[in-house]
Amino acid sequence: MDAAEISREAPQQAPGENTERVAPLVRTLSRGIYFWRDEARGPRRLRGLMAHQHVQRMFDTIAGTYDLQNRFLAARVDNHWRNMFVRYLRLNPGAVLGDLAVGTAEITIKACRRYPEIRVVGVDFSEGMLRMARRKIRARGLSPRVELRTGDLRELPIADESFDAVTISFGIRNIKERGKVLRECFRVMKPGGRLQIMEPSFPNAPILKGLYRYYFDHVMPLFGNWISGTDYAYSYLAETVYVFPSDEEFLREISAAGFARTSLVALTFGMAKIYRGWKPKGRP
Ligand SMILES: C[S@@+](CC[C@H](N)C(=O)[O-])C[C@H]1O[C@@H](n2cnc3c(N)ncnc32)[C@H](O)[C@@H]1O
Repeated sequence: MDAAEISREAPQQAPGENTERVAPLVRTLSRGIYFWRDEARGPRRLRGLMAHQHVQRMFDTIAGTYDLQNRFLAARVDNHWRNMFVRYLRLNPGAVLGDLAVGTAEITIKACRRYPEIRVVGVDFSEGMLRMARRKIRARGLSPRVELRTGDLRELPIADESFDAVTISFGIRNIKERGKVLRECFRVMKPGGRLQIMEPSFPNAPILKGLYRYYFDHVMPLFGNWISGTDYAYSYLAETVYVFPSDEEFLREISAAGFARTSLVALTFGMAKIYRGWKPKGRP
C-alpha cells in the first residue's frame, strides 16, 4: 500500500504507557470498536514511526507476553515462517550468524537446532526481550553457542566482517533509519555472506488481502493490547505493516547498502516475505 493512501493518524510518540491491567478488556474492546468505525471511514494512516526510545520501551513492556502473543495471535503460522526462514539460510558448519533484533531468540534457537555446528551472536536494544532470550537459551543448553549483546541496529557493537550471515526477522519495519541498519549489516558481514530479512506483507489475492487487513486492523490490536496489558503496542505494530516499503523499493534499499543478487521469497500466498542479498566476494 502506498503511504499516500493511508489516512488515519497514529501517534508519533508512545501514548501514555498503561501497563496496569485495569479493565483491560473494556479498554481494548472500545479500541476495537474505534478501529472498526475507522475502517468504515476509509484507509488508515501512520504518519511516522515512533522514535526509537519509544520503540525500545514498548518492547520492554511487551517482552513478557511476546511469545504467548505469537502463539495465540498468529496461530503458529509465524512458527512455520521462522522454520522456512532458517531453512533458507543454508549455513555451513562453523558459520557465525548475526541475529539482529534477536528479540526472544526464536530465530537463534531454530538456527542452532537446524545447524548444530554454528555459533550465533544476537543483538537487541530491549533489555526486556534480551532477558527472555537469555532464559530460553539457558533452558535449552545453548549458552556455549550463543552470545547476546545489547545494542542498537543503527550502530552495531560488532567488528567489521564478523558474520557469515545476518538475519533480521520482524524487526526492521520498526526502525526509521532502515538505510543505516542495512549499511551496518553490510559492514559486519564477511564477503560472500548472506543477508536475510523477513517481514509480514499483504498478499495479492483480494480475499486473502481483505482477511489479512482485517487481522491487522482489528484482531491483532484488540487481543494483542489486551494480552500485553498496553493500550497501544499492538495497534502500533499492526500499523507499521502498512508503511513498510513495497518489495521493489525495499530490494532497492538492500542493493543501495551494497548487497548484490537481491531476491525475495513469498511465504503463505505472500503473507510474509523473505528479502535476501549477498555481500560480493570481490569487494575491498
Ligand atoms: C517484533 S520483535 C522480533 C523479534 C525476533 N526477531 C522474532 O522473530 O520474533 C522486534 C525486535 O526488534 C528490536 N528492535 C527494534 N528496533 C531496534 C533497534 N533500533 N536496535 C536494536 N533492536 C531493535 C526490538 O527490541 C524487538 O526485540
